[in-house]
Amino acid sequence: MTAKIISGTEIRKQILEEIAAEVKEIKEKHGVIPGLVTILVGENPASISYVTLKIKTANSLGFHEVQDSQSPDISEEDLLALIDKYNNDDSIHGILVQLPLPKHIDEKKVLNAIDPDKDVDGFHPVNVGRLMIGGDEVKFPPCTPAGIQEMIVRTGVETSGAEVVVVGRSNIVGKPIANMMLQKGPGANSTVTIVHTRTKDLAAHCKRADILIVAAGVPGLVKPEWIKPGACVIDVGVNRVGEKPSAKDPGRMVAILRGDVDFDAAKEIAGSITPVPGGVGPMTITMLMKNTLRALKMSAGIA
Ligand code: GUN
Repeated sequence: MTAKIISGTEIRKQILEEIAAEVKEIKEKHGVIPGLVTILVGENPASISYVTLKIKTANSLGFHEVQDSQSPDISEEDLLALIDKYNNDDSIHGILVQLPLPKHIDEKKVLNAIDPDKDVDGFHPVNVGRLMIGGDEVKFPPCTPAGIQEMIVRTGVETSGAEVVVVGRSNIVGKPIANMMLQKGPGANSTVTIVHTRTKDLAAHCKRADILIVAAGVPGLVKPEWIKPGACVIDVGVNRVGEKPSAKDPGRMVAILRGDVDFDAAKEIAGSITPVPGGVGPMTITMLMKNTLRALKMSAGIA
């Protein structure tokens, strides 16, 4: 059997079209548009490229977009003051502080300073708590887990009563996606197991999974024989394993990316599987846009 390939690039396109249509309708009916500020501290090349993509996507959707680049030497106090400014700016509905921050700044303190109702990353403890409670309490599901859930649902995979095994326990992916899949409601109602570096028999757990979500950051960790025939496999790993000349511009080197799952072998066993790249990756920024639209709707009282 060859698995259905779950294309994040395709699903992103559908969701962005839905967001653009909603933005247009809200603008016409209510005269407001979503406002997103991206705060970038320093010149980390990966952060610059993520932020550039976020800005480009926000612009393409007709958002009010503010790009705030700060020197790597900005003091923690000044960064907190900047966040306070955007917390009080009515044209801004979502605040994104690109991580990582320079070492002299306490990341936790900065994230906790963002108004929870503008925390479109879903990293503030209030939003983490809301996610755990579930249902109507949830305001901003964190973007990567939200993207994973959308992919599972839009692929038509049954989640109710499914055995979901999550490999990895990070605050950004493992813990929140496990929490989301066990909630009552559509796209969830699963029986969830989280496994991690101290788990005794990783393979035995993975073999039980109807839906296997892997966010370990270890290239090729999951072997094909660990996959239950017909399972849905979501590979969150984006590991740089080398460089190659760019297909478009052979003079330029680009990263060779590999997931946490041995894709070529796994696709012969799984029922559906995400590729790397082109799987979960494109979904994160998409869900950031969805959260920003949600923040606008919350602030404007639009159902
Ligand atoms: N750095 C890498 N991924 C992310 C993300 O999803 N949000 C923020 N704020 N920073 C990141």
